[in-house]
Parts: sequence; C-alpha cells; structure tokens
Amino acid sequence: MLPDCNHIRKSCLRKNIRRRFVHLLPLVVYMYSVAILASVASKKQAMFCRVLRWSILILLSGQLFSPARSCGQLGPAPAAAADASMAEGQRVFGSSCAACHGLDARGGERGPDIASRRELQQMSDEALLRIVQDGKAGTGMPAFRSLGSAQIEAVVRYLRSLQGRAAAEPVPGDQERGRGLFFGKARCSQCHMANGEGGFIGSDLSSYAGARSADDIRSAITEPNKNLDPRKRPVTVTTLTGKTQTGMARNEDNFSLQIQTLDGSFHFFNKSELRSFEYQSLSLMPSDYGSRLSRQELDDLVSYLMTMGRANTVRSGNKPRPARDDQAKE
Ligand code: HEC
Ligand code: HEC
Repeated sequence: MLPDCNHIRKSCLRKNIRRRFVHLLPLVVYMYSVAILASVASKKQAMFCRVLRWSILILLSGQLFSPARSCGQLGPAPAAAADASMAEGQRVFGSSCAACHGLDARGGERGPDIASRRELQQMSDEALLRIVQDGKAGTGMPAFRSLGSAQIEAVVRYLRSLQGRAAAEPVPGDQERGRGLFFGKARCSQCHMANGEGGFIGSDLSSYAGARSADDIRSAITEPNKNLDPRKRPVTVTTLTGKTQTGMARNEDNFSLQIQTLDGSFHFFNKSELRSFEYQSLSLMPSDYGSRLSRQELDDLVSYLMTMGRANTVRSGNKPRPARDDQAKE
C-alpha cells in the first residue's frame, strides 16, 4: 500500500464527532423545553427529570448508533479522485522522468527501463517511493524530494500502471514457430543455449527475455553491435608463429588468456607467447538477421524467447540465471 492515511483518518473521525454534537445541540435544547413544559403542565418535578432523561437517552442512542459517515479519503480512493491522482502522476512523470526513462518508462537515452524490469515490478511501493525521493547516489538518478510526497506518490502510482501494462505485454508472434527457427533455419542454437540445449559461445538465453520488452529483444537480435557490452567483445590472438584465433575471452589475468572459439573448444595462451591480442569491436553474433529474417519470423523468435524467459524467471524465484561467460570470468 502507499503510505497510510492515518492522519487523514484521525482528522476525519474528529470531524465526524464534532458534526454529531452540532446536530445534537438544538435537539437537546428542544427536548429540554418540552420537558419543562410537560413538568409545568403536570406540576411535577420528577416528571420533568424522567422526560428529560429518556429523551436524551433516545437521542444519544439514535445518533451514536447511526451508520458512520464515510471519510472521503479512506480506503480505496473514490474513482474520480483516483483518476485525478493518475492524471497528476502522468503529468509529473512526463515533466520529471520521461526525459531520461522515456514516456512509457521503457528506457531512454539517459535512464534504464523501469517498466518491464521484473525486479522493479516486484519492488514494494515503499522502496520505489524511497528511490524517487532520495535518488540513487553515484548514478544518474536524481533525488526528487522537492516534488513533495503527494506528487511522489502520484508518480509512483502512475509508474505502477505502466509496469502493469509492461508485465501484461502480449507476445508478438508464435512461440512454437519461433522455437523452430531458433533451432533450425536461424541457427541461434549454434551459439546460444535455451533450456539446456544449444551452443556455448553466446550467453544462455533461457531466462534472458523474462523481463524485457519485445522491442528490446528484437533490437538485440537485429543490432548485436549496438550497445555491445565491452565484456562481450570477442578477442583475436596472434601467436609468435603468426597463427590467429578469435573467440570469447573466458579467463584473463596478467600472464595468461583463455579463449573459447566458435566450435566450442577452449584455448589457453601464455601472454608471453603471443605476438598480440586484441579485443574486437564487433560481436561474434551475425549482424544481418534484420535482413535475413522476415518481420514475422523475428516476432516469432521474440515470442519464443519471451515465453521461455517468463517461465524461467518465475521458476527461479525471479532471479535471471547468470550467463555462462559471467560465471567463468568470476
Ligand atoms: C537525469 C535522468 C533521470 C531522471 C530525470 C530520472 N531518472 Fe530514474 N534513473 C536514472 C538512472 C541513470 C537510473 C539508473 C540508476 C542505477 O544505475 O541504478 C535510474 C533509476 C531509476 C529507478 C530504478 C532504480 C533501481 O534500483 O534500479 C527508478 C524506479 C527510477 N529511476 C524512477 C524515476 C522516476 C519515477 C523519475 C521521475 C520522478 C526518474 N526516475 C527520473 C536517471 C533518471
Ligand atoms: C555465431 C554465434 C551466434 C549466433 C548464430 C547467434 N548469436 Fe546471439 N550472440 C552471440 C554472441 C557472441 C553474443 C554476445 C555475447 C552474449 O551476450 O552472449 C550474442 C548476443 C545475443 C543476445 C544478447 C544477450 C545479452 O545477454 O545481452 C541475444 C538476445 C541473442 N544473441 C539472440 C540470438 C538469436 C535469437 C539468434 C538467432 C536468430 C542468435 N543470437 C544467433 C552469438 C551468436
């Protein structure tokens, strides 16, 4: 739940009690007059007291046991108020967050995807509020304390709605056909593992797509060199005898280098025996899938990766499995 509204609840109760006594006052005065009149008419003091006591009791019970007036802001906000707060959240998001995270929160030039990432979808509201309020020191994420708590709550509520949309994003194609392509015509399985089958040179894709948007996955396939992680660049070694080999570096220290070549085999070199070793700027992954595969085939592949990824991130407690080459490096 968003920060509780205890303060609202208390002031509301106070208002309710005050309202009740204001209503009661004229009635008490009225009953008092009736009682005086009755006692004057019957000339009996006791009669006055009895009438007064009973009338006050009846009044009090009527007022105290009548259903409580609802306090406007308690519990789920009425629909109109919720809409207003969502509109406010959208406005704040547009003016304060979208420049970095993108209008749909799927990531932009200066900020990461905060809509479809599973860890953020599962983070508590409190933790999200804290991040927005305090920012993240040492990263590009500024603190937004100056917005004030109402706007911060509104923007987090709006972010939640964007995350909900992202979590429910339908897969764009046919995952069965995608699986066929992965292990067949597109030959992804030559280099990538999927659920225990496939090659080793690329990372294991079993849970890769669990929390990514279809667009991001599609561009990872068609533009493997865009934003290529430096740790995923291949290395080319040239031995003193002039032999060259290219592969993924699996282990490197000051004196030695171990690479895995496309055929899956490992090669160990002492650096003193090498003429040179150079990290390449282009990924080993072919960069022509955008033209080799049709739009439909790409959608099918994306669907296969998304379906498999979602199933695997749920099964493994939402922690994407570490990629094989990351393990080797540590
Ligand atoms: C100047 C750019 C910038 C703006 C403006 C900005 N962010 Fe960020 N935000 C970032 C960056 C960069 C990160 C990544 C921080 C990191 O490396 O952990 C981030 C991370 C986050 C995270 C995730 C933190 C995590 O633990 O992964 C959330 C949530 C977030 N921002 C929400 C917001 C909201 C809501 C707003 C608007 C009120 C906002 N951001 C505005 C740059 C920005
Ligand atoms: C010749 C080997 C090779 C082939 C074939 C290949 N890839 Fe890759 N792929 C790589 C390498 C190497 C990388 C970069 C290192 C890594 O992340 O695995 C990569 C990266 C990726 C990534 C990004 C992974 C990440 O963690 O950022 C995705 C997604 C991907 N490949 C999907 C595919 C799909 C889908 C196909 C088939 C259409 C395919 N690859 C075919 C070698 C290959």
